[in-house]
Amino acid sequence: MAATGTPGVEATGPSVAPDGDSNLLEALDVTKAFGGLVAVEDVSFAIPRRSIVSMIGPNGAGKTTFFNMLTGLYRPTMGRIWFDGREITGMRPDRIVALGMARTFQNIRLFGTMTAVENLLVAQHSRTKSGLFRSILRTPGQRREERQAREKARETLRYVGLREEVFDEVSRNLSYGDQRRLEIARALASDPKLLLLDEPTAGMNPQESGRLTDFMGQLRDERGLTILLIEHDMKVVMDVSERITVLDHGEKIAEGKPQEVRQDERVVEAYLGKQT
Ligand SMILES: Nc1ncnc2c1ncn2[C@@H]1O[C@H](COP(=O)(O)OP(=O)(O)O)[C@@H](O)[C@H]1O
Ligand SMILES: [Mg+2]
Repeated sequence: MAATGTPGVEATGPSVAPDGDSNLLEALDVTKAFGGLVAVEDVSFAIPRRSIVSMIGPNGAGKTTFFNMLTGLYRPTMGRIWFDGREITGMRPDRIVALGMARTFQNIRLFGTMTAVENLLVAQHSRTKSGLFRSILRTPGQRREERQAREKARETLRYVGLREEVFDEVSRNLSYGDQRRLEIARALASDPKLLLLDEPTAGMNPQESGRLTDFMGQLRDERGLTILLIEHDMKVVMDVSERITVLDHGEKIAEGKPQEVRQDERVVEAYLGKQT
């Protein structure tokens, strides 16, 4: 086992994660400042392999900013991040995807004029070698490859529970729930080890949310996925999470099992306001 390095001695410690065997992701004292605004302050956090963990907190708590640092969209102002045993601090988003991390966005980001299948083909492309020129000058081998890619895309769409009749529909015509499902399918298309979901049930009715909750369990149990969830719906969070981390004003104010977090005074305060 490698030495864990000293927290605070950034950039000079070992690049091997402190506990990369049991944790798929580890963040150590991560901070993100936008000018004078500290959106995330000194947050340490770990995700055990094959677990489902949630990050909750009031609006503006820093949840999405934290996601954006994990996925390489933002470089942490301070602190370090490891994924699957390797340091990824400051690494480019496409390289992090290639290592096996995928996400959905709080605001759906699909290619609206492309069909559901095409949205997945683009995502699968980021993991396969064939470039643009190869798909223009197609050999029989490449055509076979393309057929296989389409079949794989359809399989993923089926897996997330999308109905066949919308597979070839342009994505902006899909219902909100279906667009959310398509986003998850697109994240899965890169064969991730870690899936980050940013408020996936936003805009869903309780029935759809319930189905998504079951689906997350299925992803872990059938595909061995590890999931980090940002979610507002407390029923979803309490039902699905093994552990919950609570952020408030950029700081971690609580962490633990659902039952523990639910009873935590600071958490109740952050959500309900101080009662005096
Ligand atoms: N790119 C950015 N530039 C400046 N401020 C930002 C940026 N992204 C987020 N923030 C600010 O950081 C804080 C945390 O935002 P965010 O991470 O989106 O919170 P949450 O997802 O928990 O609602 C907010 O005050 C927000 O305005
Ligand atoms: Mg957010």
